[in-house]
Amino acid sequence: MSIFLTFYLFVISPFFLIHPSSAQFTATLYRRDSVLSPLSETDQLAVRYPPRDRARLSSLARSYDRPDVRAKVAFSDYALLMNISLGTPPSTVTGVVDTGSNLIWTQCANCKNCFKQSLPRFDPAISSTYRKVPYDSTCPYPYNKDRTDPNKCSYKIQYLDGSYSEGVISLDTITMNSRNGELVALPDSYFGCGEDNGGVFGGTESGVIGLGLGPESLTSQLGATKFSYCVPVINKHGFINFGENALVSGTGVVTIPMAVKWGHYYITLEGFTIDGERVNFTSYGNGDVEKVYNMIIDSGAHLTYLPSDNYEIFENAVKKHISAEPLNPSAVSGYTLCYSSLNFSPPTITANFDGGDVRLKSYNTFVYKDRTQCLAFFPRHNSPEGIYGTTAQTNFLVGYDQTGRTVSFKRMACT
Ligand SMILES: *[C@@H]1O[C@H](CO)[C@@H](O)[C@H](O)[C@H]1NC(C)=O
Ligand SMILES: *[C@@H]1O[C@H](CO)[C@@H](O)[C@H](O)[C@H]1NC(C)=O
Repeated sequence: MSIFLTFYLFVISPFFLIHPSSAQFTATLYRRDSVLSPLSETDQLAVRYPPRDRARLSSLARSYDRPDVRAKVAFSDYALLMNISLGTPPSTVTGVVDTGSNLIWTQCANCKNCFKQSLPRFDPAISSTYRKVPYDSTCPYPYNKDRTDPNKCSYKIQYLDGSYSEGVISLDTITMNSRNGELVALPDSYFGCGEDNGGVFGGTESGVIGLGLGPESLTSQLGATKFSYCVPVINKHGFINFGENALVSGTGVVTIPMAVKWGHYYITLEGFTIDGERVNFTSYGNGDVEKVYNMIIDSGAHLTYLPSDNYEIFENAVKKHISAEPLNPSAVSGYTLCYSSLNFSPPTITANFDGGDVRLKSYNTFVYKDRTQCLAFFPRHNSPEGIYGTTAQTNFLVGYDQTGRTVSFKRMACT
């Protein structure tokens, strides 16, 4: 209770607030283990990003194909989480940090369908600063679709892992506390008040925090064009920086070009070096646009997915450098390449990006499960673009510079 009161006083006293235009701060990240969610063992892929807008879909349908959801991915349920507060008095929202989408949303108290969460749901009725966005010019694109109710601007967001949320675009104060005790308050910020929500959620989190380039993302609403996060190992705390202190610098930094398309951050993966053997990808997808930037870097995805032809090249090379015999794939459901842990010695793998090489550790490339070691990479069928997930990013400080259009990697113990 005392914590709550202190917090409340901070929020109503402008002297303790950092003005958003100078916002520059660091918050704690948490990486949760797969909770006892029945969905964690089902056919879900932990790839959180929304399907494109319908108008764009028609011209770019190929790149929007769903990944092969029949592949069983047991380790699908890890997530990078961050706390923000919503409303007056502030109510905590623990959100999945997602560079692959824009919207911030949380389950609201009046939800019709909700997943279980340990935190109380946000109740718009008790926030004195809450407002629904009406269906008019203030209802931002692409949420201005629903003409059925002129009193609300509704949204519907779906992620590739099957998670979804539907509700009302709303405005309220978002408050975040920095690790150094400072608070940042963003009055009248857009977020989705979720009324029908479901999918791969483990109970700890109560929504999603989009860090994409769209105007409704947390980064855009903060006015921060740089952010960086340090991905901790499972069940530990890392951190996320916004603003100028998000700059990733010093020795050992690898900075590579980044492109932004349809709100996603893309980088170019040319191939891998496995125990000194360089293997290059032979194709960069089908369309012109997809030719170079072939990987979406995503904090909301756990594993890494490569376009299937590139995956094959990679898997064959990895196999060549492991002397043990792979286990029968049916023995370890969900994974494509597994070995018994007993006599397993992982090869050294470096990701060769356009612009720089990032040396990975074995925990970036293999996951351990039931006395087996499985490759943490998957083929993504019918798509020219892959997804670079958080297993490959563990114990890296990963920096995004939206104006400089770069992504930087720096090896660091994040916990
Ligand atoms: C987020 O907030 C919850 C509830 O107040 C708290 O238990 C948890 O430790 C917080 N997590 C982080 C990463 O700060
Ligand atoms: C792979 O591509 C790199 C960069 O384009 C090139 O320098 C190298 O010679 C290629 N290696 C092989 C084995 O094709």
